[in-house]
Amino acid sequence: MPKPKVYVTREIPERGLKKIKKRFDTEVWFEYTPPPKEVIIEKATDADALVSLLSDKIDAEVFDATPKLKIVTQFAVGYDNIDLKEATKRGIYVTNTPGVLTETTADFAWALLMAIARRVVEADKYVRSRKWKVGWHPNMLSGRDIYGATIGIVGAGRIGSAVARRAKGFNMKILYYDVISRPELEKELDARRVDLDTLFRESDFVSVHVPLMKATHHLIGAEKLKLMKKTAYLINNSRGPVIDERVLYKALKKRKIAGAALDVFEREPTPTDNPLLKLDNVVVAPHISSASYETRAKMAEIVAENLVVFFEGRKPPNLVNPEVMKVRPLTKLL
Ligand code: GLV
Repeated sequence: MPKPKVYVTREIPERGLKKIKKRFDTEVWFEYTPPPKEVIIEKATDADALVSLLSDKIDAEVFDATPKLKIVTQFAVGYDNIDLKEATKRGIYVTNTPGVLTETTADFAWALLMAIARRVVEADKYVRSRKWKVGWHPNMLSGRDIYGATIGIVGAGRIGSAVARRAKGFNMKILYYDVISRPELEKELDARRVDLDTLFRESDFVSVHVPLMKATHHLIGAEKLKLMKKTAYLINNSRGPVIDERVLYKALKKRKIAGAALDVFEREPTPTDNPLLKLDNVVVAPHISSASYETRAKMAEIVAENLVVFFEGRKPPNLVNPEVMKVRPLTKLL
């Protein structure tokens, strides 16, 4: 039996890649920039499996051109770049990498939160650009207190909950909005489930942790931003399109809210002329919330594990479209 053919759209950490290479006929796109869609299509034409990144658009056009494709293993927890409906319809299994990146991503939400509240990036620029002429001044680069403030978590799933747990150490009042109630957070952290308007009205920090889907696209726009305190901050390391960036820019520019810290953007990479980048009350990062050496290695391992398990004829552990098993049962796949 020939080995199944796998196309990997970027050089993922060795810990996973080694396992994939050992078991499969593997081809990897080694360039730093993503492969153009035509390349993915060409390379995956006779592939049995595709390892994708969140920056690869995997849609009907790709599926139409890859008749042998049986599984897409995404190197990320979010999979809004994959047309799940089209995959399921065609009997293509899709997996992601949940769990292993939860704490790393929550750490980074806190790095963003602290950076914007205490003006860490501004302070760094201030010193380096030789503006630090007076040793100490009562008003120099004052920010806002984090300890004891109110944090509002939009989406209290794995990552949102991990952000909330860290807030406990800062003696914060914790509000959360979620489509389902999270009794464990209420019990453990005294967190209060509120509607979205209340969360925006009462929070000093709003931290966003929902997946991108139809219902969450531009979930945060003019109406919600208007509810925020002038002293409040918005933190987003979920997906850019959850926030209407144009409206956010206006709110920040007019100081209707105090600041925003963003690891994700409506378009990535964000255009260099994005007006948000001109504002002092914004901290930005290039979508790196899960980027720790340890976590990225674990993500690669999970990708490999999903592939191995699947090609052994078993249900992959991180299947995100279980309905697919009815469309094309495992027994019919291999
Ligand atoms: C990163 O954004 C991920 O979804 O893993």
